[in-house]
Amino acid sequence: MGHLISSTIMLQAAREQRFAITAFNVHTLEMLQAVVDAAVEMSAPLILQTTVGTVNHLGPEYIVAAAQTAAKMANIPIALHLDHCTDYALIVKCIRAGYTSVMIDASMHTYEDNVRRTLEVVKVAQAAGVNIEAELGKVGGVEDDLVVEDEDARLAVPEECQRFVEETGVSTLAPAIGTAHGIYKGEPHIAFGRLEEIQRLVSIPLVLHGGSGIPEEQVKRCVKLGMSKMNVATELKIAFSNAIRTVFDTNPDENDPRKYMVPAKAAVKALTKEKIAMAGCGGKAELMLAATSS
Ligand code: 13P
Repeated sequence: MGHLISSTIMLQAAREQRFAITAFNVHTLEMLQAVVDAAVEMSAPLILQTTVGTVNHLGPEYIVAAAQTAAKMANIPIALHLDHCTDYALIVKCIRAGYTSVMIDASMHTYEDNVRRTLEVVKVAQAAGVNIEAELGKVGGVEDDLVVEDEDARLAVPEECQRFVEETGVSTLAPAIGTAHGIYKGEPHIAFGRLEEIQRLVSIPLVLHGGSGIPEEQVKRCVKLGMSKMNVATELKIAFSNAIRTVFDTNPDENDPRKYMVPAKAAVKALTKEKIAMAGCGGKAELMLAATSS
């Protein structure tokens, strides 16, 4: 492919063809490589994403350089997305560094304030040709420092989604439909009827947050109802950490990072493949390359 691309056209094509592109939160170079390897082997378009915590941990320049290298080497379309950012200045910094997609999360504010804050980002992102994602309603659970207690989680209102898209011009929307960040205590209670109504009123790609732990059949139903991007974070972190833990359980004195990173990468890669298959984007890279080059 050669370079990182904005995810807008990829996601529009996914929406038309009723599959979802998987977006994986990565925190280390090894996680990024494992996710890219899996996507390449499955010929899947890919969205790499990082949280604000990871941007602060590694620095946007290092992240962009690693993602650009992946895009140069892999024959699949790759976008780099900033997940759940509440800080306008950091969004601008990431766009300048080379991120090709950003999420402004102002879902904790009033509807009017959410529109106002989103519009500020739309202006800079559109000028830079960068994809913009916003959230309506409030997705529950824990994502880095963003903690939304169960009682504060709120489902998106379909008419508000329609109005929000018209008023802001965002390219992708994450409506809260009952999924949550983190591991579910029981089965998620997804409001499928509400999702159906939202996708009837809104003609841009929708984003499914809280992709960890959603049963396959529910993921497929969400995709059929218009979810065109599926975010996965927690399960990858667990797979990565558990693999490292296993190495230290058998050899507490291990001091060669490669000895524990190799199984950690393998675990992330295997899980990434499962999620790609679930979202239905395996084998779609070529279609995306055609859509993004025309
Ligand atoms: P999980 O941590 O539940 O996979 O959620 C990921 C997500 O939605 C990131 O924005």
